[in-house]
Amino acid sequence: MDEILVFDFGGQYCHLIARRIRDLGVFAEIVPFNINIDLLKKKNPKGIIFSGGPSSVYEADSPRVKDEIFQFILKEKIPILGICYGHHLIIHQLGKKIEPHDNKEYGRTELTIINSKTLFNSLTTNEIVWMSHGDQVVTMPEGFEVLAKTGTCPIAAYGNKNLKLYGVQFHPEVVHTPRGNIILENFISNIAKAKKEWKLGDWIDHSIEEIRKTVGDNERVILGLSGGVDSSVAAALLNRAIGNRLHCIFVNNGLLRKNEEKQVQQVFQEELGFQYFHYVDAEDVFLKRLEKIEEPEEKRKIIGHTFIEVFENKTKELEHKFPNIHYLAQGTIYPDRIESSAPSKSAAKIKSHHNLTLPEDMKLRVIEPLKDLYKDEVRKIGLKLGLPKRMITRHPFPGPGLAVRILGAITKEHLDILREADCILLEEIRKAGLYDEVWQAFCVFLPLKTVGIMGDYRTYEYLCAIRIVESLDAMTANFAKLEWNVLEHISTRIINEVKGINRVVYDISNKPPSTIEFE
Ligand code: XMP
Repeated sequence: MDEILVFDFGGQYCHLIARRIRDLGVFAEIVPFNINIDLLKKKNPKGIIFSGGPSSVYEADSPRVKDEIFQFILKEKIPILGICYGHHLIIHQLGKKIEPHDNKEYGRTELTIINSKTLFNSLTTNEIVWMSHGDQVVTMPEGFEVLAKTGTCPIAAYGNKNLKLYGVQFHPEVVHTPRGNIILENFISNIAKAKKEWKLGDWIDHSIEEIRKTVGDNERVILGLSGGVDSSVAAALLNRAIGNRLHCIFVNNGLLRKNEEKQVQQVFQEELGFQYFHYVDAEDVFLKRLEKIEEPEEKRKIIGHTFIEVFENKTKELEHKFPNIHYLAQGTIYPDRIESSAPSKSAAKIKSHHNLTLPEDMKLRVIEPLKDLYKDEVRKIGLKLGLPKRMITRHPFPGPGLAVRILGAITKEHLDILREADCILLEEIRKAGLYDEVWQAFCVFLPLKTVGIMGDYRTYEYLCAIRIVESLDAMTANFAKLEWNVLEHISTRIINEVKGINRVVYDISNKPPSTIEFE
């Protein structure tokens, strides 16, 4: 399949570039900027994109492409598009000058296109683009032509048709460059001439074939199913590939939302007809070990370790019954695997969240059928495989479950109160048509009692916080500015219907500095 490689120079938009290219129908992958030459030759890309990055090319320790690689690319005439830092780097590696500019342009900028024949085909003379770097290309080697400029940047884009090298000072991949997709399309289709072979329908057939080849005709696979999008889609895919040789283990840790275990069971056992959906009720073990534990990290550790223990025990029991269980499938997706490779000044890397790694001594071979997919691709695959939309579009839910939404020690009483309140909140958010509009909506139990009045009686009950946030990737988030009447309705219902709560507060903190979850 034709492929475009994205060389990662530490830019925050690397994944976005790859996603955009895939959306345009061409397979794209991110590789470290110091990729090994044999790997590059093996991948044989139709085109390469040099990503942006926070460094300046003239600094001593800034990331560069090894000479051997750069010469190979030039010799093979593999087209390159440099974006931002990548735009500077191409010129720098060819020995010309990049300098910091006094009139730094950041954000929304008007671009004047000088030559619209290649990279800017189908664009008009003036376009809006998004800038995010203070350096500029000052001089260029022979054979390079200026393709566009801005008020303060005379070489905002360049091209060398013969060497197939192109560069743009701005970011075509972000939404703030409204017609950036046309630029990427021009690069992949007209310049790199990559065939559009990345189709998710074909991906399913191909992946099923791969799984069958790997697992063979007799062996069995274990999968930890949480009911979240990734593990559910992995389960649906494996079920298509190997049918009832897939064993899903669903652990009820007692920290799930109201009826969650029933809903997951209903989908996989009843709707999808999974033969081996192994339900493990471990509520007592988890709650016993969490007794009196107040410190958030300690809670998380206990839950993680207990999960592994419970999962291992169930696996051993199944291995005893089915000696041909040799594989462990995981719902790992592409962004879980690919971390930014460049030494980055801003180190815009926020650790991905604690999804559990099972111990290596489990001796099972790991298969990760979704490892090359982005989340939105996983969702599309899930729908194609017949998973219910409700499951595919559900909000993220942390591995440690409601434990991180109960402040202080966890008790069954507090969990039950929280489950009731949370259920009402979600019901109302769905009714108001807001569920798909927000990133997450949930309740938090605060073990503080305040005074209230119900009818003629004084009450002294717990506090419930509502957290509803908007976000694109959970790295930053803003609290949702909902209509007061929606919030009022939720609060009234919770106070009237949930025994134990007599006051509801709305969290108006953004991330950063607050996090989305409370613990
Ligand atoms: P924070 O609270 O760090 O959360 O702003 C960011 C996103 O990650 C989710 N989250 C988790 N997901 N295991 C997970 O799989 C966890 O331990 C965990 N903790 C937080 C959180 O819900 C939000 O979407």
